[in-house]
Amino acid sequence: MNGRVRTLILSDALNVRPRIGGRRGDILKIKLSQIKSTEPKREHGDISDLKQSIADIGLINPLTIDEAGRLLAGRRRFQAVKELGWAEVECYVLPVNGDQLKAFRIAINENLKRKNLTDPEVATAIKEYDEMKRKLEGSKSAGNPNLLQCGKLEGWTQDRTAQELGISQQAVTKAIKIATAIEEYPDLANYQKGTPVLKEYAKRERQKLIVQPMVESDIRIILGDMKGELARLADNSVSLILTDPPYAAEFLEAWQDLAKISARLLKPSGFLVAYSGQLYLDKVMKYLGEHLTYYWLAGVWLKGAPSHRFERHIQNAFKPILIYQKPPLAKQVEWMVDLLESPVADKGYHSYGQSEAPFVILLQSFSSPGELVIDPFCGGGVVPYVCQKLGRKCLAIDSDKDAYQTTLLRLQNDQAQI
Ligand SMILES: C[S@@+](CC[C@H](N)C(=O)[O-])C[C@H]1O[C@@H](n2cnc3c(N)ncnc32)[C@H](O)[C@@H]1O
Repeated sequence: MNGRVRTLILSDALNVRPRIGGRRGDILKIKLSQIKSTEPKREHGDISDLKQSIADIGLINPLTIDEAGRLLAGRRRFQAVKELGWAEVECYVLPVNGDQLKAFRIAINENLKRKNLTDPEVATAIKEYDEMKRKLEGSKSAGNPNLLQCGKLEGWTQDRTAQELGISQQAVTKAIKIATAIEEYPDLANYQKGTPVLKEYAKRERQKLIVQPMVESDIRIILGDMKGELARLADNSVSLILTDPPYAAEFLEAWQDLAKISARLLKPSGFLVAYSGQLYLDKVMKYLGEHLTYYWLAGVWLKGAPSHRFERHIQNAFKPILIYQKPPLAKQVEWMVDLLESPVADKGYHSYGQSEAPFVILLQSFSSPGELVIDPFCGGGVVPYVCQKLGRKCLAIDSDKDAYQTTLLRLQNDQAQI
């Protein structure tokens, strides 16, 4: 999902107008000791800014309570004024005549229309509402037997929660994911926005799943700096270096290292095949040419919308593939067309992830089954993944822990399916 869609879903949740009608009650000063917070105990997140603002300019939005003093909306504000030592606080009083569910829905709608709430708070309220309705009405997904007994065909669904709260079903689904993540890791409630909560949750879950690094295998993944790790390998021991290094200016030095290391590690007539950006292509080719022989310039056509390169007013639709060889020059066995197609960039494993299809062709063209292939900048693991599929030995390195773990998981999941 891209950032824009996410924003729309969240604003959908935050801008919603409450459907519950009813007259707003009077604003009264109520003693803090008379207010009961009926919500389940949970983290309030960091409320120091809120406390400071209330201490400086007072409470802009009164709390909302029902006729029995139960807090319907304003959990964080209530906590803040308690911590500030206030004796009483302004509250709207909304009579709900003891109807707990109605009270709860009022609380959520109060929360939804307030923009100063964090996404995690809104999400938690939505999830609680959905759960409460499921308990009362039965859950469709759980196949509640009571429903069958009493002849009802349908239980509660997220769609119905969405309808009752007047928000989209995607907003409910996303809210439930955010709230579930916070239940698992309460410190995630400190984020203001929902997307970082989900990203951090995914990262922690990945870390939990990793059992063993793969060491005793034809495919080996290493967490570390490529220069240090490759220094351990013997001269003339590698058939192909197939890689996609970072393209930014600060990585030009890494290209120099790559050129030098490749010249040492590659077997005679072994290939270095590397994706590159265009901005510093002149320098990159110069560095590679200092240590290896230029062989060919191929390209990968990035299908789909081109990315905008604002530095040059270019809509970029292809990537150069640099092919260099350690002398002596020798033709590769398989013929290859020099414009490859990348159906969709695969960002599921890495934010700079590349699709598998061109790597399959490059691997088949420049290596044979059983040979050793190296990817010193493996990212989300596309090279070791295709090596595993096509029976090449592979050593892949990344200095980023998340990329390393993602690659391990990708390969383990693939092995599990074989
Ligand atoms: C462009 S990404 C590779 C993306 C990969 N082709 C994919 O499809 O997922 C480059 C990777 O190089 C890694 N990297 C950068 N400097 C490195 C270094 N000195 N040693 C090892 N890895 C490095 C980064 O962490 C990043 O994951």
